Amino acid sequence: MSAQRDLLRFITCGSVDDGKSTLIGRLLHECGLIFDDTLAALSRDSRRHGTTGDDIDFALLLDGLEAERQQGITIDVAYRYFATPRRSFIVADTPGHEQYTRNMATGASTASLAIILVDASKGLLPQSRRHSLICSLLGIRHLVLAVNKMDLIAFDANRYTAIVEAYRDFAAKLDFTEITAIPLSARMGDNVTSASADMPWYQGPSLLQHLEEVDVVSDQAGKPFRFPVQWVNRPDASFRGFAGTIASGRIAASQDVRLAGSGRHSKIQRIVTADGDLAEAIAGQAVTLTLGYEIDIARGDMLVAPEAPPEIADQFAADILWMGSNPMLPGRDYLLRIGQDWTQARVTSLRHGIDVNTGDHVAARTLQMNDLGLCHLATLKPMAFDNYNENRATGAFILVDRFTHETVAAGMIRHALRRASNIHHADFTIDRAARAERNGQLPLLLWFTGLSGSGKSTIANLVEQALFAAGRHCYSLDGDNLRHGLCRDLGFTDADRVENIRRAGEVAKLMMDAGLIVLASFISPFRADREMLRELIGAEDFLEILVDAPIETCMARDPKGLYAKAKAGLIPNFTGLGSPYEPPETPDIRLGTGASTAEDCAAQVLAALRQKGISC
Ligand code: ADX
Repeated sequence: MSAQRDLLRFITCGSVDDGKSTLIGRLLHECGLIFDDTLAALSRDSRRHGTTGDDIDFALLLDGLEAERQQGITIDVAYRYFATPRRSFIVADTPGHEQYTRNMATGASTASLAIILVDASKGLLPQSRRHSLICSLLGIRHLVLAVNKMDLIAFDANRYTAIVEAYRDFAAKLDFTEITAIPLSARMGDNVTSASADMPWYQGPSLLQHLEEVDVVSDQAGKPFRFPVQWVNRPDASFRGFAGTIASGRIAASQDVRLAGSGRHSKIQRIVTADGDLAEAIAGQAVTLTLGYEIDIARGDMLVAPEAPPEIADQFAADILWMGSNPMLPGRDYLLRIGQDWTQARVTSLRHGIDVNTGDHVAARTLQMNDLGLCHLATLKPMAFDNYNENRATGAFILVDRFTHETVAAGMIRHALRRASNIHHADFTIDRAARAERNGQLPLLLWFTGLSGSGKSTIANLVEQALFAAGRHCYSLDGDNLRHGLCRDLGFTDADRVENIRRAGEVAKLMMDAGLIVLASFISPFRADREMLRELIGAEDFLEILVDAPIETCMARDPKGLYAKAKAGLIPNFTGLGSPYEPPETPDIRLGTGASTAEDCAAQVLAALRQKGISC
């Protein structure tokens, strides 16, 4: 337990200009972490390149990294480890510029305390506000306002007080529980690790003393018990334990626990660790729990305090920080991970963006890299979570791109949306199977995808005629037609196209429920959306048909004169020119309409349908 108590994770926010590298360099030095040979080299370099006369310029120790970042080479977070006899520290060092917001958020997400570094000679800057806002959003509750470069303002107490008061005014609307202001000079060492002779008016702790003493452990340990199960440890028939790290709260042998998802109860039997059994354990400890009576538990489930269970919902509102190189698209499916649990999720709507500099709400239709916004999300299955403000460990999630596996967003759940849980499914007696039987056919969706002018509608029309003539019941959905009615409000931005395909898919699904064979012709340029359709409809009933013609052929055909307009710059995001087309890698049917006639292509589709048992 003491090992946990002795580690403080913090983040430093500021730029080289504010003296951030100098401050970290000096902390490392004063904790004896810079080797003698490094120190000798540093002292040589300081005389040659430094800005500190004969003194050591600690900034030179870390500036290499900062320089790389400014050229955009390193965009990760640098974690540095140091220790004093009283505590160990992990400091997340991230660049301060706005284009590195996502890196800062990554560093902040695991930190318990933030140091906001302000240059006393400049006062509060927009970036001080931006950094504070991000730290607050990411759940940091302990803040140090480090007013640096006091030597440049002749250690003036009045100017210091003015900066601190201005900051407290601003920070009152943020969620910090404690703000400690410290006047210091990282370069001269004042109030970094020991009291400053030049500022007798300051009675508070030095920075290091505060970092050693601040109580952040009770933050997580004082919350209700949460234990996301990382894996089920079952070496032989006699032992079954659940391994993971306690996310919050504490647990003791013989205490009651509840499984969040199923609501089943059990009792803790043993708390097993590599160093033997424990009588109790707290947040941050990695343990294996065994239960008094077995309940069905899998990886991703969560053991919780029965008297304070988490929320369970499949829709919630969350602040999202977008990290992906492609913009966030409402309607697109992503993978979502809370703790150890994964599911599929969709941003159902973006309520508003958040200006990272002011915290103001701004209108937004999408989020680009480093943007913040409040979104509504829907998950495929109900998830157990807490509101982020109540519990950072179980209220945070990430979104992952399903194809590239890139982490595209960090999210903070604000509250559950009750709507999903209050809407039920009405079951009607006459169902899809009954209608299909009456129609004497199995419903199917033929999804034609391809460039504008590739021949989707022409071929779909021929296939539908043949099906109709053979007595099949069918219906054609067409991009151009739906856009006159149901999708009249949509344009051709990526976000609108995603929504267009979602609506077309839902309509097709209803028509299939009504027992029809549906032919849908949409450019549907994005692979992810066609995958969404396959899942919505079910792979068995979904035929992805690539209508494949070289773009030169489509341009030469140009049946609606749109390529000519697009080339003249009149349609900025025309598919194939200003907007991408991602062809299916393994379509169910590929029709080469450059080389074959429309009739031949239709025959190819009909042959595939006969193989599926559809008489036509
Ligand atoms: S999709 O991309 O959302 O699937 P959809 O198939 O509904 O598109 O509509 C495509 C039709 O809209 C094209 O056949 C063309 O007639 C018309 N159109 C108008 N502007 C554009 C554009 N910028 N890109 C593509 N098609 C466009």
